[in-house]
Amino acid sequence: MTATILDGNALGQKLRAGFRQRAEELAAQGVRPGLAVILVGDDPASQVYVRNKVNACAQAGFHSEKHVYPADIEARTVFARIAGLNADPKIHGILVQLPLPRHFDADAVLEAIAPEKDVDGFRAENVGVLVQGHPRFIPCTPYGVMKFFEEAGIPLKGREAVVVGRSNIVGKPMAMLLMHAGATVTVCHSQTRDLEAHCRRADILVAAVGKAKMISGEMIKPGAAVIDVGMNRLADGKLCGDVDFALAREVAAFITPVPGGVGPMTITMLLANTLQSAERAASA
Ligand code: GUN
Repeated sequence: MTATILDGNALGQKLRAGFRQRAEELAAQGVRPGLAVILVGDDPASQVYVRNKVNACAQAGFHSEKHVYPADIEARTVFARIAGLNADPKIHGILVQLPLPRHFDADAVLEAIAPEKDVDGFRAENVGVLVQGHPRFIPCTPYGVMKFFEEAGIPLKGREAVVVGRSNIVGKPMAMLLMHAGATVTVCHSQTRDLEAHCRRADILVAAVGKAKMISGEMIKPGAAVIDVGMNRLADGKLCGDVDFALAREVAAFITPVPGGVGPMTITMLLANTLQSAERAASA
Protein backbone atom coordinates (compact mmCIF):
# COMPACT_ATOMS: atom_id res chain seq x y z
CA MET A 1 0.00 0.00 0.00
CA THR A 2 1.22 3.52 -0.73
CA ALA A 3 -0.32 6.07 1.58
CA THR A 4 -2.50 8.98 0.56
CA ILE A 5 -0.55 12.18 1.25
CA LEU A 6 -2.32 14.67 3.50
CA ASP A 7 -1.31 17.96 1.86
CA GLY A 8 -1.22 20.83 4.36
CA ASN A 9 -0.54 23.46 1.71
CA ALA A 10 -3.63 22.47 -0.28
CA LEU A 11 -5.96 22.18 2.73
CA GLY A 12 -4.50 25.36 4.23
CA GLN A 13 -5.12 27.33 1.03
CA LYS A 14 -8.69 26.08 0.81
CA LEU A 15 -9.47 27.10 4.39
CA ARG A 16 -7.64 30.42 4.09
CA ALA A 17 -9.74 31.42 1.06
CA GLY A 18 -12.81 31.13 3.30
CA PHE A 19 -11.12 33.12 6.08
CA ARG A 20 -10.27 35.91 3.64
CA GLN A 21 -13.92 36.12 2.67
CA ARG A 22 -15.04 36.27 6.31
CA ALA A 23 -12.35 38.87 7.08
CA GLU A 24 -13.67 41.08 4.28
CA GLU A 25 -17.21 40.78 5.61
CA LEU A 26 -16.00 41.79 9.07
CA ALA A 27 -13.92 44.65 7.66
CA ALA A 28 -17.07 45.96 5.96
CA GLN A 29 -18.56 46.21 9.48
CA GLY A 30 -15.47 48.15 10.60
CA VAL A 31 -13.56 45.30 12.26
CA ARG A 32 -10.41 43.99 10.56
CA PRO A 33 -9.02 40.88 12.31
CA GLY A 34 -5.69 41.78 13.92
CA LEU A 35 -2.84 39.60 15.22
CA ALA A 36 0.20 40.76 17.21
CA VAL A 37 3.22 38.46 17.34
CA ILE A 38 5.96 38.96 19.91
CA LEU A 39 9.41 37.50 19.23
CA VAL A 40 12.21 37.70 21.79
CA GLY A 41 15.72 36.70 20.77
CA ASP A 42 17.25 35.55 17.49
CA ASP A 43 16.40 31.84 17.25
CA PRO A 44 16.51 31.26 13.46
CA ALA A 45 13.61 28.78 13.40
CA SER A 46 11.41 31.16 15.43
CA GLN A 47 12.26 33.99 13.04
CA VAL A 48 11.04 31.91 10.10
CA TYR A 49 7.83 30.86 11.91
CA VAL A 50 7.03 34.45 12.89
CA ARG A 51 7.65 35.73 9.38
CA ASN A 52 5.36 33.04 7.97
CA LYS A 53 2.63 33.91 10.48
CA VAL A 54 2.76 37.63 9.66
CA ASN A 55 2.81 36.97 5.89
CA ALA A 56 -0.19 34.63 6.21
CA CYS A 57 -2.12 37.42 7.94
CA ALA A 58 -1.41 39.85 5.11
CA GLN A 59 -2.55 37.30 2.50
CA ALA A 60 -5.80 36.72 4.37
CA GLY A 61 -6.50 40.46 4.64
CA PHE A 62 -5.81 40.62 8.39
CA HIS A 63 -3.97 43.39 10.21
CA SER A 64 -0.76 42.11 11.79
CA GLU A 65 2.06 43.50 13.91
CA LYS A 66 5.44 42.05 14.76
CA HIS A 67 7.15 43.16 17.98
CA VAL A 68 10.77 41.98 18.06
CA TYR A 69 13.11 42.28 21.05
CA PRO A 70 16.72 41.26 21.67
CA ALA A 71 17.27 38.19 23.87
CA ASP A 72 18.56 40.31 26.79
CA ILE A 73 15.50 42.59 26.95
CA GLU A 74 14.07 43.13 30.43
CA ALA A 75 10.90 41.12 31.02
CA ARG A 76 8.98 44.22 32.14
CA THR A 77 9.32 45.72 28.63
CA VAL A 78 7.56 42.66 27.20
CA PHE A 79 4.89 42.73 29.94
CA ALA A 80 4.25 46.41 29.17
CA ARG A 81 3.86 45.59 25.47
CA ILE A 82 1.39 42.79 26.23
CA ALA A 83 -0.63 45.14 28.46
CA GLY A 84 -0.78 47.66 25.61
CA LEU A 85 -1.90 45.00 23.12
CA ASN A 86 -4.52 43.67 25.57
CA ALA A 87 -6.11 47.14 25.56
CA ASP A 88 -5.75 47.74 21.80
CA PRO A 89 -9.06 47.26 19.92
CA LYS A 90 -7.20 46.65 16.62
CA ILE A 91 -5.71 43.47 18.09
CA HIS A 92 -7.80 40.29 18.49
CA GLY A 93 -4.96 37.81 18.93
CA ILE A 94 -1.64 37.99 20.77
CA LEU A 95 1.00 35.32 20.23
CA VAL A 96 4.31 35.14 22.08
CA GLN A 97 6.59 32.89 20.04
CA LEU A 98 8.09 30.10 22.15
CA PRO A 99 10.65 29.25 23.35
CA LEU A 100 11.48 32.44 25.25
CA PRO A 101 15.05 33.11 26.46
CA ARG A 102 15.88 31.34 29.72
CA HIS A 103 15.63 34.38 31.98
CA PHE A 104 11.91 34.65 31.16
CA ASP A 105 9.21 32.92 33.17
CA ALA A 106 7.27 31.72 30.12
CA ASP A 107 4.16 30.78 32.13
CA ALA A 108 3.99 34.28 33.63
CA VAL A 109 4.30 35.85 30.18
CA LEU A 110 1.50 33.67 28.77
CA GLU A 111 -0.71 34.49 31.78
CA ALA A 112 -0.30 38.20 31.00
CA ILE A 113 -2.17 37.79 27.70
CA ALA A 114 -5.88 38.61 27.96
CA PRO A 115 -7.72 35.23 27.86
CA GLU A 116 -9.98 36.38 25.01
CA LYS A 117 -6.88 37.26 22.90
CA ASP A 118 -4.88 34.09 23.71
CA VAL A 119 -5.15 32.64 20.20
CA ASP A 120 -2.57 29.94 21.00
CA GLY A 121 -4.82 28.71 23.82
CA PHE A 122 -1.81 28.38 26.14
CA ARG A 123 -3.04 30.27 29.22
CA ALA A 124 -3.89 28.01 32.15
CA GLU A 125 -7.56 29.07 32.03
CA ASN A 126 -7.79 28.26 28.33
CA VAL A 127 -6.05 24.91 28.85
CA GLY A 128 -8.60 24.21 31.59
CA VAL A 129 -11.65 24.83 29.42
CA LEU A 130 -10.10 22.73 26.64
CA VAL A 131 -9.74 19.83 29.09
CA GLN A 132 -13.34 20.32 30.20
CA GLY A 133 -14.44 19.99 26.59
CA HIS A 134 -15.55 23.55 25.78
CA PRO A 135 -12.45 25.30 24.44
CA ARG A 136 -12.23 29.04 23.88
CA PHE A 137 -9.28 28.58 21.47
CA ILE A 138 -7.95 25.21 20.30
CA PRO A 139 -4.11 25.24 20.18
CA CYS A 140 -3.16 25.72 16.53
CA THR A 141 -1.07 22.62 15.77
CA PRO A 142 -3.45 20.00 17.21
CA TYR A 143 -6.36 21.96 15.71
CA GLY A 144 -4.70 21.66 12.28
CA VAL A 145 -4.22 17.92 12.80
CA MET A 146 -7.93 17.50 13.62
CA LYS A 147 -8.76 19.33 10.36
CA PHE A 148 -6.76 16.70 8.43
CA PHE A 149 -8.85 13.92 9.99
CA GLU A 150 -12.07 15.80 9.20
CA GLU A 151 -11.07 16.60 5.61
CA ALA A 152 -9.87 13.07 4.78
CA GLY A 153 -12.86 11.44 6.53
CA ILE A 154 -10.59 9.50 8.91
CA PRO A 155 -12.77 8.08 11.68
CA LEU A 156 -11.65 8.56 15.29
CA LYS A 157 -14.46 7.08 17.39
CA GLY A 158 -13.39 3.91 19.15
CA ARG A 159 -9.99 3.83 17.42
CA GLU A 160 -6.58 3.47 19.01
CA ALA A 161 -4.66 6.76 18.92
CA VAL A 162 -1.05 7.05 20.04
CA VAL A 163 0.52 10.46 20.60
CA VAL A 164 4.31 10.41 20.90
CA GLY A 165 5.36 13.51 22.87
CA ARG A 166 3.79 15.22 25.88
CA SER A 167 4.48 18.92 25.32
CA ASN A 168 2.03 21.64 26.34
CA ILE A 169 2.02 22.94 22.76
CA VAL A 170 1.22 19.70 20.94
CA GLY A 171 1.19 16.37 22.81
CA LYS A 172 -1.13 17.19 25.71
CA PRO A 173 -3.78 19.19 23.78
CA MET A 174 -3.61 16.66 20.90
CA ALA A 175 -4.37 13.80 23.30
CA MET A 176 -7.29 15.77 24.76
CA LEU A 177 -8.84 16.51 21.35
CA LEU A 178 -8.51 12.88 20.23
CA MET A 179 -10.05 11.72 23.50
CA HIS A 180 -12.98 14.12 23.11
CA ALA A 181 -13.44 12.83 19.54
CA GLY A 182 -13.93 9.31 20.91
CA ALA A 183 -10.50 7.76 20.33
CA THR A 184 -8.76 5.63 22.96
CA VAL A 185 -5.60 7.59 23.54
CA THR A 186 -2.13 6.55 24.69
CA VAL A 187 0.52 9.22 25.28
CA CYS A 188 4.12 8.01 24.90
CA HIS A 189 7.22 9.95 25.92
CA SER A 190 10.92 9.64 26.72
CA GLN A 191 10.28 7.29 29.66
CA THR A 192 7.94 4.97 27.74
CA ARG A 193 9.03 1.33 27.68
CA ASP A 194 8.68 -0.39 24.31
CA LEU A 195 7.58 2.58 22.22
CA GLU A 196 7.49 0.32 19.19
CA ALA A 197 4.80 -1.94 20.66
CA HIS A 198 2.58 1.07 21.45
CA CYS A 199 3.05 2.60 18.00
CA ARG A 200 2.31 -0.67 16.21
CA ARG A 201 -1.17 -0.74 17.82
CA ALA A 202 -2.04 2.76 16.62
CA ASP A 203 -4.77 3.36 14.05
CA ILE A 204 -3.89 7.04 14.46
CA LEU A 205 -0.24 7.88 15.19
CA VAL A 206 0.82 11.45 15.95
CA ALA A 207 4.58 12.00 16.31
CA ALA A 208 5.58 15.23 18.09
CA VAL A 209 9.00 14.62 19.58
CA GLY A 210 11.61 16.51 17.59
CA LYS A 211 13.90 13.60 16.71
CA ALA A 212 14.58 13.00 13.03
CA LYS A 213 13.15 9.73 11.64
CA MET A 214 12.66 8.17 15.09
CA ILE A 215 9.45 6.46 13.91
CA SER A 216 10.53 3.76 11.48
CA GLY A 217 8.39 1.84 9.01
CA GLU A 218 8.27 -1.22 11.30
CA MET A 219 6.66 0.85 14.05
CA ILE A 220 3.59 1.60 11.94
CA LYS A 221 0.43 -0.48 11.80
CA PRO A 222 -0.60 -1.26 8.22
CA GLY A 223 -3.41 1.11 7.24
CA ALA A 224 -2.70 3.67 9.98
CA ALA A 225 -3.05 7.45 9.65
CA VAL A 226 0.37 8.92 10.46
CA ILE A 227 0.70 12.58 11.41
CA ASP A 228 4.23 13.97 11.61
CA VAL A 229 4.53 17.14 13.69
CA GLY A 230 8.36 16.98 13.76
CA MET A 231 10.43 19.62 12.02
CA ASN A 232 14.10 18.65 12.23
CA ARG A 233 17.03 20.12 10.34
CA LEU A 234 19.47 17.49 9.05
CA ALA A 235 23.24 18.02 8.71
CA ASP A 236 22.78 18.63 4.96
CA GLY A 237 20.35 21.48 5.74
CA LYS A 238 17.23 19.57 4.62
CA LEU A 239 14.10 19.46 6.79
CA CYS A 240 12.74 16.15 7.94
CA GLY A 241 10.06 14.96 10.33
CA ASP A 242 10.00 12.53 13.25
CA VAL A 243 8.80 9.77 10.89
CA ASP A 244 10.92 7.94 8.33
CA PHE A 245 8.64 9.06 5.50
CA ALA A 246 9.97 6.85 2.67
CA LEU A 247 9.38 3.65 4.68
CA ALA A 248 6.22 4.77 6.49
CA ARG A 249 4.35 5.74 3.33
CA GLU A 250 4.55 2.12 2.14
CA VAL A 251 2.74 0.92 5.29
CA ALA A 252 0.34 3.70 6.29
CA ALA A 253 -2.98 4.56 4.63
CA PHE A 254 -2.54 8.33 5.22
CA ILE A 255 0.58 10.33 5.99
CA THR A 256 1.62 13.98 6.28
CA PRO A 257 4.85 15.08 4.58
CA VAL A 258 7.50 17.35 6.12
CA PRO A 259 7.60 20.07 4.99
CA GLY A 260 4.12 20.77 3.61
CA GLY A 261 2.02 18.82 6.11
CA VAL A 262 1.30 20.01 9.64
CA GLY A 263 3.37 23.24 9.40
CA PRO A 264 1.07 25.16 7.03
CA MET A 265 -1.96 23.91 8.99
CA THR A 266 -0.62 25.38 12.24
CA ILE A 267 -0.52 28.80 10.63
CA THR A 268 -3.92 28.28 9.01
CA MET A 269 -5.51 27.53 12.39
CA LEU A 270 -3.82 30.57 13.94
CA LEU A 271 -5.71 32.59 11.33
CA ALA A 272 -8.89 30.68 12.23
CA ASN A 273 -8.49 31.53 15.91
CA THR A 274 -7.71 35.19 15.22
CA LEU A 275 -10.73 35.46 12.95
CA GLN A 276 -12.95 33.80 15.53
CA SER A 277 -11.70 36.22 18.17
CA ALA A 278 -12.43 39.18 15.88
CA GLU A 279 -15.93 37.84 15.17
CA ARG A 280 -16.57 37.52 18.91
CA ALA A 281 -15.35 41.10 19.44
CA ALA A 282 -17.56 42.37 16.61
CA SER A 283 -20.67 40.73 18.05
CA ALA A 284 -19.95 41.64 21.69
N1 GUN B 1 6.70 27.52 19.14
C1 GUN B 1 6.52 26.36 18.45
N2 GUN B 1 5.20 26.18 18.16
C2 GUN B 1 4.56 27.26 18.66
C3 GUN B 1 3.18 27.66 18.67
O1 GUN B 1 2.28 26.97 18.15
N3 GUN B 1 2.92 28.84 19.28
C4 GUN B 1 3.89 29.59 19.85
N4 GUN B 1 3.53 30.73 20.45
N5 GUN B 1 5.17 29.26 19.88
C5 GUN B 1 5.49 28.09 19.27
